[in-house]
Amino acid sequence: MNNHHQHEFGGNWTDEKLLRVRKYLTAYATILKKKFKFAYIDAFAGTGYRENKVKADNENQLSLFNEAELKEIGAFSEGSARIALQTNPPFDKYIFIEKSKKHFSELQRLKDEFPDKAKQIELVNANANEYLLDRCNNYKWQNHRAVLFLDPYGMQVGWETIKAIAKTEAIDLWYLFPLGIGLNRLLKKDHKSIPESWKIKITNILGTNEWENTFYNDVEVQTLFGNQTSKEKVTDFYKISNFVVERLKSIFPGVAKNALLLRNSKNNPLYLLCFASGNPKGAKTAVKIAQDILKR
Ligand SMILES: C[S@@+](CC[C@H](N)C(=O)[O-])C[C@H]1O[C@@H](n2cnc3c(N)ncnc32)[C@H](O)[C@@H]1O
Repeated sequence: MNNHHQHEFGGNWTDEKLLRVRKYLTAYATILKKKFKFAYIDAFAGTGYRENKVKADNENQLSLFNEAELKEIGAFSEGSARIALQTNPPFDKYIFIEKSKKHFSELQRLKDEFPDKAKQIELVNANANEYLLDRCNNYKWQNHRAVLFLDPYGMQVGWETIKAIAKTEAIDLWYLFPLGIGLNRLLKKDHKSIPESWKIKITNILGTNEWENTFYNDVEVQTLFGNQTSKEKVTDFYKISNFVVERLKSIFPGVAKNALLLRNSKNNPLYLLCFASGNPKGAKTAVKIAQDILKR
């Protein structure tokens, strides 16, 4: 068994996510072609593959086939990196960032698989936040454009990173925000019972501590020792989604207002797929396209 088999994630919501990013990449490359040098940046690139869950349940059967055959019968689906490399018209550059050594070594195969694009592929084995802060802050962006896909499993992306991305005024961002899988789980019913380290995490991902007043209300409770106030959770997925979209609006010139709540097969919200456009001149068109793509 090769490493592909150990990297398994996602159900239909993964299809939903990748389908939309794929559509945007095609529209984007078509519009920007000949106008700018433009790159695709995948900051949580993974292995380039994702494995369909059903198939993993039949591992013994699967090992009868080689990789090419598996692809043919659809046992592997493309991950975001492969999808970007297949986009037409092509991008001028593909930057794939991946922290895990194991996943990174899988990514390196992409150069063999897409030999005509090998020179345009830049592979970076690093922490996405550190790499993006440097790339956004220390390079000239005036004549460049990029689409950046942030697809973390959890709460890895700091607000400082999002701010640096916006500041380039050159990047369009697709951000899979960990709404149900991350943030909502940390927002305990009673504010008092959220550990200090979680509060720091929440503030770090949202870039503000205003969430404490937005998601919690002071309530009077009668106790044996008289009345006391406590902060109780008064939020739901829609309110949190709006908050995230508003946060993006505070730093990007254009943000899709219909960010998409992606649910698992049990209908529980996992992620919020958000779009924000960084270039003041291009944002209106970009947001229009993204909003269209985000419609169910
Ligand atoms: C959800 S997967 C990405 C899937 C990929 N976008 C696709 O469609 O095939 C998240 C990836 O991010 C990597 N990762 C986790 N933390 C990271 C970090 N701080 N910087 C860069 N990569 C990270 C994980 O190793 C994992 O491969």
